[in-house]
Amino acid sequence: VRPDALVIALDGPAASGKGTLAKKIAGQFGLPHLDTGLLYRAVGCGVLDHGGDPGNVAAAIEVAAKLDLAALDEARLRGATMGEAASRVAAIPEVRVVLLDLQRRFAAQPGGAVLDGRDIGTVICPDAKVKIFVTATPEVRAERRFKELAGRGEAVTFEDVLADIERRDARDSSRTTAPLVAAADAHLLDTTTLDIDAAFRAALDIIGRR
Ligand code: DC
Repeated sequence: VRPDALVIALDGPAASGKGTLAKKIAGQFGLPHLDTGLLYRAVGCGVLDHGGDPGNVAAAIEVAAKLDLAALDEARLRGATMGEAASRVAAIPEVRVVLLDLQRRFAAQPGGAVLDGRDIGTVICPDAKVKIFVTATPEVRAERRFKELAGRGEAVTFEDVLADIERRDARDSSRTTAPLVAAADAHLLDTTTLDIDAAFRAALDIIGRR
């Protein structure tokens, strides 16, 4: 990694706005962007597609080892079923080890990169130039995710989405390997009362102060 490489790590719970922010930040600085949640979603999806249970350690490891970044079907992976399956395979330490290299290689691009996920600032890129931990209340996050899923035509209720978010928060935060936690040197960005533009400006402010 070049000393002037701009690696930006965004972490936070589901539907906190980190993905949208990461995309906009990457566009602003002309950097490549990796949504690492998609990797875990792809592993969860692969296991489900083979009729398996996302709790099946051997199956999840095998799918993770064969993951092809170029072949990810993003639209499908964004579905609610995949979020739950992703959270379950993400709790398997061996799956995280298999995906670690891929993420580190992505982050090591010459000019830098923007990565968003749960453990970017703590485990994947502990030396990132900028770390932002994006939060929002569970209700506001559930409202955002509900609109997104309903907009895609998924038959979901707000209550289901809120329950799903709370279940995933609990699982992602309590697992023993690389739990969802803010790095000690991360800047906190609470987007509860911010729209996308305001959150983007706040993030640029944090990056400008580095
Ligand atoms: O950000 P997302 O909702 O697409 O992530 C889906 C699941 O993947 C999430 O519930 C936890 C897991 N995940 C993870 O453990 N580590 C990451 N860096 C990204 C996602």
